[in-house]
Amino acid sequence: MTATPVLSLNNIHKAFGGVVAIKDFSLELFPGEIVALVGDNGAGKSTLIAIVSGLHRPNSGEILLDGETVSLSDASSARSRGIEVVYQDLALADEQPVFMNMFLGRELTRKPLGLLDKSRMRRETQTMLDQLDVHIPSAGSKIRDLSGGQRQGVAIARATHWASKLILLDEPTAALGVAETAKVEEIVAALKERNLAILIVSHSLDQVFRLSDRICVLRRGVQIGVRSTPETDKNEIVSMITGVHA
Ligand SMILES: Nc1ncnc2c1ncn2[C@@H]1O[C@H](COP(=O)(O)OP(=O)(O)OP(=O)(O)O)[C@@H](O)[C@H]1O
Ligand SMILES: [Mg+2]
Repeated sequence: MTATPVLSLNNIHKAFGGVVAIKDFSLELFPGEIVALVGDNGAGKSTLIAIVSGLHRPNSGEILLDGETVSLSDASSARSRGIEVVYQDLALADEQPVFMNMFLGRELTRKPLGLLDKSRMRRETQTMLDQLDVHIPSAGSKIRDLSGGQRQGVAIARATHWASKLILLDEPTAALGVAETAKVEEIVAALKERNLAILIVSHSLDQVFRLSDRICVLRRGVQIGVRSTPETDKNEIVSMITGVHA
């Protein structure tokens, strides 16, 4: 590929005290590409997501966005650069309506008094949800009254709306049922067409094979390899994850 990568990670290293969570990790992500990050519990997947989303600083190594070296000092610096994250444990405000969650930290206000423009946020939220075919009772429903799948739909719609470059998904369907998982997968697959780059962590190899273009395997912080999804199979990925050759 000749395009400039949306994201380049070069020789990233991260330790927590004596525990090395990520060792010398390098990866490039291109626009319109879905890369799956897989590995056993504790392999370092969430740590890597936290580094790219600005929550953790690497001890060494380089992060480039669109070819430019950046320092992601916190979550808002990553967000302002077009990076959005969807966590498994849904960072949504339970007691707030859906439209306030959509605009959390980016609320629309009305001039000249600066009052919240609730009707506009509500309308725009409905449009965002409709675009992704996410069905909820109303944009004014409270998050706590939604099902797990609906919440995840809201979280992904929010990320999609604000992300201009990159979406990071850390086990987005771990808590969902079969139908809800299928829905979320459909939404993620559709994001490719918006030319966003997507990095998804998943323990479901079926899901990884359904969604991804490439698969990156981590084992105890070590990057074991990256494979093109059509050119590998589950057996190879399982042996890369476990280190046991069948
Ligand atoms: N804030 C932290 N402080 C200390 N150690 C941490 C911290 N976060 C992660 N670790 C350690 O780093 C290693 C990688 O953890 P990480 O959460 O990245 O794994 P993971 O691949 O996401 O696992 P899982 O599949 O269980 O979610 C683990 O050994 C973990 O104990
Ligand atoms: Mg994790």
